Amino acid sequence: MQVKEILLQKPDGQDIVAKGWVRTKRGQANIVFININDGSTISNIQAVVEDGVISEDILKKITTGACIAVTGKLVASAGAGQSVEIIASEIEVYGIADETFPMQPKKHSLEFLREKAHLRFRTNTFGAIFRIRHALAFAVHKYYNDNGFFYLHTPIITASDAEGAGEMFRVSTFEANKAPLAEDGSIDYTQDFFGRETSLTVSGQLEGELGALALSKIYTFGPTFRAENSNTTRHLAEFWMIEPEVAFYELEDNMNLAEDFVKYVIKYALENCADDLAFLEKRLLEEEKSKPQNDRSELSLLDKLKFVVENDFERITYTEAVEILIRSKPAQKKQFQYEVAWGIDLQSEHERYLVEKHFKKPVILTNYPKDIKAFYMKQDDDNGAAPGPTVRAMDVLFPGIGEIIGGSQREDNYEKLLKRVEEVGIDPENIWWYLETRKFGSAPHSGFGLGFERLVLFVTGMGNIRDVIPFPRAPKTAEF
Ligand code: 4AD
Ligand code: MG
Repeated sequence: MQVKEILLQKPDGQDIVAKGWVRTKRGQANIVFININDGSTISNIQAVVEDGVISEDILKKITTGACIAVTGKLVASAGAGQSVEIIASEIEVYGIADETFPMQPKKHSLEFLREKAHLRFRTNTFGAIFRIRHALAFAVHKYYNDNGFFYLHTPIITASDAEGAGEMFRVSTFEANKAPLAEDGSIDYTQDFFGRETSLTVSGQLEGELGALALSKIYTFGPTFRAENSNTTRHLAEFWMIEPEVAFYELEDNMNLAEDFVKYVIKYALENCADDLAFLEKRLLEEEKSKPQNDRSELSLLDKLKFVVENDFERITYTEAVEILIRSKPAQKKQFQYEVAWGIDLQSEHERYLVEKHFKKPVILTNYPKDIKAFYMKQDDDNGAAPGPTVRAMDVLFPGIGEIIGGSQREDNYEKLLKRVEEVGIDPENIWWYLETRKFGSAPHSGFGLGFERLVLFVTGMGNIRDVIPFPRAPKTAEF
């Protein structure tokens, strides 16, 4: 029985076996208390060893980190902090852990734990994070399944650069260190992936659109890869993305879907991960106490999550956002490191100002300048107050995170799309299959991508994206 289940049993003195890893062992004159955790829940089960029941030889082997099985009777606990405990009659030691075991019962820094990535799963913090990550992934599938979407598996190895940003990892069939070179010294790509130039996907969107223009409502949920060398707390080289794509949706429908979906998964975590969230909230409160007063967050983790679930996201255009940012500038003072002007790609300092200082809630920014967005976005016929051409793009910005979602209505007009493809320098031959969907039964459609780790970052309140994925891939981190 898992510890989670044992803790829910009636303490009727029935025989029970608990297996797990020792978190602490405390001894008194003639009684020993051992706390065991098996990862099924944040809580431990306590085993009580009365004098003389277990041999000294075995007790000596039971130290923090050891793996054991305790057999005994389940009784109501007299001590504070737990309702049941096991009166041990037998203990089997599966594996000892000597004093070099790094996860001793004290607070370790996250930097230290990142260096011990193979063992950090055994801590309360990472146990909580990865259980929440699981719950969020399950909620994603549940949401889309319940709303009539089909889970479409798009390729990991692909010949197209969906975002056109040139940040792809090449895939090849070359033998290690023996890339065949052409006469001019460049790599001979005719020998790349069975004669074709391919990379790891940056997004399943283009393939997802093929599915949506037949099945109407699809979503992808898979690993994506970006060879951007950004050493930040928000970027990974390998991250998971959820990309719904829907036929007959315009930008407005897309925004409604994004808001409803994000609120649903956060609510799911609030309802199903209460213990883990309470643990992380407490941890965060302690961390906040060590910060200077005005750097402390105003809301606790749970209040922040509830606030997002219960309030409407603010929806404004890029042009309006730029006006707000320009107006916010105090006289004679530099407000931002990067100056704001219509046409710039908003930096994270600008996004954070809008979300954290101005609106104090999630914001959906729409109708961006065409030149700073991907080729596939639908062009606005009416630019509103914008001084230049815009596209039906939308970015969802979250407090403490910045961009959590990027999406758009897609260009469905063949001529306009082809012109845009040529303008940005993509060879139409390379995406002929994508262009053909606009020749045969084209339809208005929209979609977006949610960075899964950025969602987990928000829900867990952690500060670094490398702490919310089991095996982070970022510059200088790939031990296994
Ligand atoms: O804004 P992006 O680049 O959009 C796309 O890839 C579109 N094809 C999505 C679509 O319309 N179907 O990426 C989408 C989201 C971002 O908002 C961000 O949350 C996340 O993916 N993201 C990253 N997360 C972690 N590390 C990185 N390097 C990321 N790059 C993007
Ligand atoms: Mg984006």
